[in-house]
Amino acid sequence: MADDSIAIVGGTGDLGYGLALRWAKAGRDVYIGSRVALRAEEAAKKIRGQLGEHARVTGLANEEAIHRAWIVVIAVPFSAQISTITSLKEKFQTGQTVVDCTVPLEAAVGGAATRTLNLWAGSAAEQAARYLPPAVHTVAVFQNVPAPILQELDHDVDCDVFVCGDNPEARARMKPWIEAISNCRYIDGGKLENARVVEALTAFLIGINRRYKTHSGIRVTGIPAGT
Ligand SMILES: NC(=O)c1ccc[n+]([C@@H]2O[C@H](COP(=O)([O-])OP(=O)(O)OC[C@H]3O[C@@H](n4cnc5c(N)ncnc54)[C@H](OP(=O)(O)O)[C@@H]3O)[C@@H](O)[C@H]2O)c1
Repeated sequence: MADDSIAIVGGTGDLGYGLALRWAKAGRDVYIGSRVALRAEEAAKKIRGQLGEHARVTGLANEEAIHRAWIVVIAVPFSAQISTITSLKEKFQTGQTVVDCTVPLEAAVGGAATRTLNLWAGSAAEQAARYLPPAVHTVAVFQNVPAPILQELDHDVDCDVFVCGDNPEARARMKPWIEAISNCRYIDGGKLENARVVEALTAFLIGINRRYKTHSGIRVTGIPAGT
């Protein structure tokens, strides 16, 4: 497995596809995963159509994709998070960093997208960590990054991206991946439990999006450039 590769479970979806597109544009090796390999291959083909045949993007079944990279992004709906992790549990490898992007919106149970659900684990990311093997490092990333902007290559993504996780090296591993996306900045978000705040912010941003008819993101002031 190479250090400059990444796998995306649910990489055919809005967020996963947008991330795959941006990372492929930055010249990284991207393995798009899907429950159906053909769907993943179609998404990879679409990206090559957008970027050119040189783009290093491959579509595979989720099980195959997660074998190819040290960093695995889980980009599936909240309602499918536990079942997806459980079904792939045996496939993760010691030392992998697993990136959970899930936001537990109330919309998952028929409610509002401007509210989150209270989870027993504290956050969707902490829930993911409970179901993942203990030998992987769980980090929570990208909850506040709007997929529609990621998918529009002529738009600057222009966001700060919080990385929460209990292992500092695993958090730092995400920095180059975040900074490969146009005008995104890595912010060390500290422990995984801080994902509770970050996930709730997404529901708040969805309300802002509706009022201002936009795709908003977050910027933190007071952090000097280059730190
Ligand atoms: N959309 C955003 O702007 C955004 C922003 C930040 C965070 N997020 C979070 O990122 C995650 C993905 O969001 P999304 O909007 O990309 O979701 P999505 O497009 O609805 O779904 C993503 C992918 O998940 C797989 N999937 C769907 N239903 C599934 C099921 N029942 N079981 C297993 N896999 C299933 C599908 O891939 P296959 O059918 O190919 O397997 C689908 O393409 C969510 O947890 C969301 O809260 C989204």
